[in-house]
Amino acid sequence: MMKGFKWGKRISLWLLMLLLLTGAMETASASVAVMASNQAGGVEVALQTQQAGKTRVVGSAATPKSSVKITPRPTVKPAPKPTAKPAARPRATVKPTPVRTKAPTPTPKPTPPPADAPDAKFIALTFDDGPNEEFTAQLLDVLEGYEVPATFFVLGCQVEGNEALLLRMVEQGHQIGNHTLKHKQLSKLSKADIRRQIAGAADLIEAACGQRPQCVRPPYGDFDKKVKAVAQEEGDALILWSIDPEDWRTRDTPLITQHVLDNAQPGGIILMHDIYPHAPEAAEQIILGLWQRGYTFVTVQDLLGNVQAGKAYGRASKAAQR
Ligand code: NI
Repeated sequence: MMKGFKWGKRISLWLLMLLLLTGAMETASASVAVMASNQAGGVEVALQTQQAGKTRVVGSAATPKSSVKITPRPTVKPAPKPTAKPAARPRATVKPTPVRTKAPTPTPKPTPPPADAPDAKFIALTFDDGPNEEFTAQLLDVLEGYEVPATFFVLGCQVEGNEALLLRMVEQGHQIGNHTLKHKQLSKLSKADIRRQIAGAADLIEAACGQRPQCVRPPYGDFDKKVKAVAQEEGDALILWSIDPEDWRTRDTPLITQHVLDNAQPGGIILMHDIYPHAPEAAEQIILGLWQRGYTFVTVQDLLGNVQAGKAYGRASKAAQR
């Protein structure tokens, strides 16, 4: 470094001489040679002339940078800037899982045959004499699990206390029919009493669930001209049945199921009762068996379409019915 500085000083002196000479030739005014260290550590010489109070640089020279070794300044590490806290990342929105309120459907769930197939076979499940607080509720669970519609012929005297079951029937898409007020043999009654039996039950059902039945199933399948006349005046069709497993006589579920499967035919109406403990299981076996045979379950109304008031559909079995 010392050697470099000496050389730089010597070169600067030569340059100064040259500048003084140039400056003297150019102007007669006072000239001042200014020597200063340049940034690179070399020597810089400038000749300034004073003319009318103004300083003018007339020439300058500097030792070459390369001749001076530069000691690098210790670099001051900048204090780290306080890092701003990163903005909180938006939380991934978690889709809430709906609380399951319904009873799980049976797994694996069998598939019903397509209802819109050209060779679709329709059949109707019907249940009489309820609602029953316990067994109708269980039956509705089964029907809901398989999404099967049915038709309930309700007794007027069973409505009180079971209004929630009637509402559930409506909600699940079942049809509610009229099975009279007190399950009397209608042909033995006067016209006035027949009307009381039919209209009285219809009033109670309508009050409970908001739907007035438009069809009557006469108890025991018993009817005559008087009954037909009253039904016509009340705007009700008479609905009987075509398949009767006599589920009131036996509690043997496989026997009931087999009877229905053996006697099923398209357009059939199956008679059952939702007041027995075996009704829910029998209904489940019948649903599975008839699905295997290609049947689609519908309500009586959907099975028969537009029915005529006062007209009887289906037939009564020979045996006396409950
Ligand atoms: Ni009955």
